[in-house]
Amino acid sequence: MFLKSIFFLIAVGLSSANELRRPEGRIIGGTYVPIEDVPWQVALLVGTSHICGGSIYNKWTILTAAHCVYGEITEHVSIRAGSSLKNFGGQHVNVSKIIIHEEFNKETLDNDIALLILEKPLDTNNTLIKPIELAQEPPSPGTNVLVTGWGSMYSKPLDFYPQILLGVNLTVVDTASCREKYNLELPKPVVCAHQSGKDSCQGDSGGPLVTWPNPKLVGIVSGGPHNCATTYPGFYTDVASFRDWILKTINKLY
Ligand code: ARG
Repeated sequence: MFLKSIFFLIAVGLSSANELRRPEGRIIGGTYVPIEDVPWQVALLVGTSHICGGSIYNKWTILTAAHCVYGEITEHVSIRAGSSLKNFGGQHVNVSKIIIHEEFNKETLDNDIALLILEKPLDTNNTLIKPIELAQEPPSPGTNVLVTGWGSMYSKPLDFYPQILLGVNLTVVDTASCREKYNLELPKPVVCAHQSGKDSCQGDSGGPLVTWPNPKLVGIVSGGPHNCATTYPGFYTDVASFRDWILKTINKLY
């Protein structure tokens, strides 16, 4: 397994060496993204296992999906920032508090957002670890967006979890037609994004969906079709709708 990972790392490294500055498509259909291109990305770990992604809001605070940390014991949860590898390098910091949205619904995935307060602040005095600005408004249909994570590169039963960070560019799909496609069974509020043969997948949850090339956080990976990269768009927590909740919740802490 270890050898296999090394070979994979080298293979992906070589094949995308000339594309480093242009994230495109694994996760499913994507390419390697160096952490300095997306310095807000963190890996969310439970014990030593990578379970989800997250985004740096400030030195003390990580944004993720509620379904990632629902039922987890704070003592077991930590994050790694500043590394393209989910298991090595960067800054590894324990989480001291998990705040799940009060109206999170684990069946419908309504309000799929949570804040993680860190035990000690991240050192952001470098190019690898930086907060991401929240979008003021939901992205309009057609907007180019980038989603990144260490989630599966293939749909089940062929899942494969990369060691290195991958990213894929998607296009925002209008919410009304996305809702229709899902027979109105979509969480609220939501952003949908799609691109043929490309998608986020299991393990990308909680991670960032940002506008690209001018990065603002517009979404948090929440869910999608059972198999990834189908004709169904992936769906993302609409970050702009939760700006007030985020600010209010953080203010209450201090
Ligand atoms: N719920 C998944 C997770 O926990 C994310 C699924 C995203 N799926 C998709 N087809 N976009 O990692």
